[in-house]
Amino acid sequence: MAAKNPKLHYFQYDKWMNDPNGLIFHNGIYHLYYQCNPNSKYWGNIGWGHATSEDLITWTEQPHALPAKPGAMIFSGSIAAPDDAHSKGSEKASLYAFYTVCDYDPQRLQSDNVLDIQNQRQHLALSDDNGITWNEYRNNPLIDIGSTEFRDPKVQQLADGEWLMLVARSLDHKIDFYYSEDLLSWTLTSTFTQCPFQKGAWECPDLILLCPQENIWCLMLSVDRGFANNGSGVIYMLGNLVDKAFVINTAYMGGNAYVRLDHGPDFFAPQSFFHNGQLSKPLMLGWLNSWLYAKEMPAQSLPMMQSMPRELGLVKVDDQCYLLSQHPALSQAKVSESSTQTVSGLYSQQALFSEIPGTFLWEAEIHNFDQGQLSLSIVDAELSLVTIVIDSDEKTMRISRHTGDFFEAANTDYEAPYLSLTSMMDISILADCHSVEIFVNQGTTVFSLRLSSAMDNVSLLAESTASNSKLQSTLSQFK
Ligand code: FRU
Repeated sequence: MAAKNPKLHYFQYDKWMNDPNGLIFHNGIYHLYYQCNPNSKYWGNIGWGHATSEDLITWTEQPHALPAKPGAMIFSGSIAAPDDAHSKGSEKASLYAFYTVCDYDPQRLQSDNVLDIQNQRQHLALSDDNGITWNEYRNNPLIDIGSTEFRDPKVQQLADGEWLMLVARSLDHKIDFYYSEDLLSWTLTSTFTQCPFQKGAWECPDLILLCPQENIWCLMLSVDRGFANNGSGVIYMLGNLVDKAFVINTAYMGGNAYVRLDHGPDFFAPQSFFHNGQLSKPLMLGWLNSWLYAKEMPAQSLPMMQSMPRELGLVKVDDQCYLLSQHPALSQAKVSESSTQTVSGLYSQQALFSEIPGTFLWEAEIHNFDQGQLSLSIVDAELSLVTIVIDSDEKTMRISRHTGDFFEAANTDYEAPYLSLTSMMDISILADCHSVEIFVNQGTTVFSLRLSSAMDNVSLLAESTASNSKLQSTLSQFK
C-alpha cells in the first residue's frame, strides 16, 4: 500500500493547524500545542490544539486545550513551568500558558471573509494536570495596550530567575520586552526596533540563548509576507542581552543586519523549547507552510504539518562571526534499513537509489568539490519533484520544485548562498511524503518545502560537472 501520510512529522488532515504553541518538555513528555480550528479543516475559530510525545516522532492527540469563544480567538503563545518558588498564592499551578486573545467581528468574518480585529491582548491560563485542562487566570488580561496588532507572547526564565516575555507589535515592526518576577505582573523594559526588514507583519518573536559564556542570543522573527513571491519567512539576528534589551551585534553576522533562518518557502512561526531545562541544546519546531497559500491547501486535501523538531547550535565561522545551525532531531526515529552509495567524477542522471518510499533521510558528504556543479533530484517516474543544484564556483544552491496544480501561481526557485566550513560539504535531505527539509554544511543553510502531492516510490538521481568530486551518501528508511 502506498504510504500517503507523513511518518515522522506531526500532521492534521481534518482540523486546521498553523503555528506551534506552548512547546515544553514537562515530566518526561513533550507537549505540542498548536493553532487549531477543532471543527473544520479550514481557518477560523482558532484555539489551541494539543498533542504529546515521548520521542518527538510519534504524537498522541489530546483534548482541545484552549477553545475560542464567540468573537474571541486564542492566538499564538507559549508555556512556562515555574518551580514552586515562583508560583505563588492562589496562582500556584505547574504550567502557565500565555496567549493572545484576538477580539474580532464574527459577522464580518462570516459574511465578507474579513478578519476585522478589535483588540489583541495577552492572557494567562493555568494547568495543574500536566497541561490537559486549563483555567483562565481570574485577573486577565495581563497586558492590554489597546492595540489590534499586539500578539504572540513568548515567555522564558532567565538565569537570575526573572521572567522575560517578548510580544510583537506586528504592524509597528516592534518587539516589546516585558519582565516579571511572578509571571503575573509584567513591566515593559525595552522595545526592539533595530531590524531593517520592515515588511509585512512581525509575528512570533523568540529569543534564544545560544552561548551563555559570551552572552550571545538569537532573536527569531517570523514575517508573514515579503519574501520570494511575497511569501512568508523567518529571519534571525545575533546579538547580546544588555540591560534588559536585545542589542544586535552585526559583527556576529559578518556585517549583515539579519540572516534568513530557512531559505525555503514553507517554514514559519518557529518556537524554541528545551529538552531538559536550559542546560540542554535548544530545540525548535515551525509550521511547514506559508501564508501565501496555506488557506487553500485543505481544499486540495493536503495536510497541515509541523516541521521536524530541530536541534539548534551556534557554529563559529571565524573569530567574531557565527551562524545558527539546525539539525533534525531524529535520534529516536526507528531506522528500518540503510544503504550507502559512492559516485565520483563526471556523471549524468546517475540513479543513486531507486524506487524508495516517500519517507527517507539521505545524508551525503561531498569531497573535493572545488569546481563545477552537482545536482540532485527526487524523481517520480520521469517527473522531477525537487531538484537541488549546488554551484561550487558561485557557492550557491538553487532549489526548484514541481508545481503541480497547487503551486502553479506561487512557485519560484529558491536560492541561497552557502558557506564552506571545511573542505568537505555535507547535505542531508529529510523527505516525508509531503515535505522536504534540506540541511547543508552543518545545518547552517536550510530549505524547507511542501510538495503539491504525496510522494512515494521515488528515485534519487545525481548529476555532476565537478570532475574531482566524490559523493558518498547513505539512505535511511524508517519503520
Ligand atoms: C502567525 C500568526 C500569529 C497569530 C496566529 C493566528 O502565523 O498569524 O501572529 O497569533 O498566527 O493563528
